[in-house]
Amino acid sequence: MRTPIIAANWKMHKTTAEAADFIGQLGSELKHDTVEVVICPPFPLLCRVNDVCREKGLRLGAQNMYWETAGAFTGEVSPMLLKDIGVQYVICGHSERRQLFGETDQQVARKVKAAFAAEIIPIICVGETLQQRQAEQTAAVVGEQITIALDGLDPSQVRRLVIAYEPVWAIGSGLAATGTDAGMVAQQIRKLIGEMYSLRTARDVRIQYGGSVKPNNILEFMSEPEIDGALVGGASLDATVFAGIVNAVSGARRE
Ligand code: PGA
Repeated sequence: MRTPIIAANWKMHKTTAEAADFIGQLGSELKHDTVEVVICPPFPLLCRVNDVCREKGLRLGAQNMYWETAGAFTGEVSPMLLKDIGVQYVICGHSERRQLFGETDQQVARKVKAAFAAEIIPIICVGETLQQRQAEQTAAVVGEQITIALDGLDPSQVRRLVIAYEPVWAIGSGLAATGTDAGMVAQQIRKLIGEMYSLRTARDVRIQYGGSVKPNNILEFMSEPEIDGALVGGASLDATVFAGIVNAVSGARRE
């Protein structure tokens, strides 16, 4: 049985005071005993958020990192430092990193390996653009992203990682995929991992959907058997709205 995982990707939002308010409010509104909740703030807020996350049983995630352990890489952050300050998850290859900062599949693969070396679990983002979807290339694009990102990992690592299927056109647009469409891609992802490794390995991988997830559409995604959670951007900035998403998932599991 895969534990659902809902992650908040704050992107480049919030000050220290806003972050503390958010966590305080979230802690009082959450009933998340059956859901793993990960908060991914900007780098300078990680330590502050970690202090409160620990008390509330939330996990800490980073939005990015570099793959080298240390060195002359001005402006970058190492996996070792993230581990040192308590980070448990790291988002790798978000489409904004790929599109705005030129991150390639090969760089994503290096980050994934570096994350495991530092004992941090990668949340690997994959997804097609609108143009690729219209050209019916979704399976091919996502397949290639996964094949490269997972290259060289051993089954025990693959079993622990998280894949976030995020169609690029659905991110921040208010235009979510349908549950059926997202479920179908999640199924293709699991099948591919099954072929690359084994059915047993693929069965343990958690697959999130991301792209305009809200409290009123989360259950449409969670009712898909191959979808195990969500990576939430805009709707993760408000504690009440984000708690609404998490509580909907844990409520549905208790029924
Ligand atoms: P969104 O972002 O929920 O605002 O669409 C999702 C993401 O970028 O991970």
